[in-house]
Amino acid sequence: MERLQKVIAHAGFASRRKAEQLILDGKVTVNGKVVKELGVKVSPNDKVEVEGIPVEREEPVYYLFYKPRGVISSVKDEKGRKVVTDYLPDIKQRVYPVGRLDYDTSGLLLLTNDGEFANLLMHPSNEIEKVYVVKTKGIPSKEKLKLLQKGVVLEDGKTAPAKVKMISLDKRKQTAIIEISIHEGRNRQVRRMFEAIGHPVMKLKRERYGLITLAGLSAGDIRELTPHEVKQIRTMATSKSS
Ligand code: URA
Repeated sequence: MERLQKVIAHAGFASRRKAEQLILDGKVTVNGKVVKELGVKVSPNDKVEVEGIPVEREEPVYYLFYKPRGVISSVKDEKGRKVVTDYLPDIKQRVYPVGRLDYDTSGLLLLTNDGEFANLLMHPSNEIEKVYVVKTKGIPSKEKLKLLQKGVVLEDGKTAPAKVKMISLDKRKQTAIIEISIHEGRNRQVRRMFEAIGHPVMKLKRERYGLITLAGLSAGDIRELTPHEVKQIRTMATSKSS
């Protein structure tokens, strides 16, 4: 038996707080009857609806996917390009990505069917650290890397301070490998940050999300997160957003 607001939130209808409001507003029915109290618990056999829309009740699942380059962070693509679900034929639950990585970005992508978990991680106040490895065109000077550390002005505002580390450089090819850790998740953020300092990204890979890494996986591999990892990441997100 699970609390009604939790079931609604898990299905991705709303945050837990908004789910409570939906209940209080009389918009939720259980087996056809309006339920307005917050303490109610429901079993998997109870039919829950929000404003007449059935709430799908799947057991929550959590996966770590090593997205290769050239794959869309989506469950379908009208242009017929590869999507993440092409890599998970054996998973019966309808999982979807938590946030996105660009088509040309490889690396760590979380997949789940738990809407509440996904919303929590994608909330702007969540400060979970994401670590990327970047190959740049040209070799950025120390001063330019400092700009990234302090924050650069993009068209949607200044970026928060970042950690930046030069890993290696190739003078002959005029490229550098740089590690950058950020906790924001704006659209194409890392690419835009490097463009802002005049060194476009040639290759981009997300290597870490909180404490979770790609260790032991190759591009295209997928594994379930352990219950400990799920708990750890949920705690991190919750403590940062409260
Ligand atoms: N930043 C980007 O620019 N692209 C990604 O895919 C992820 C972070």
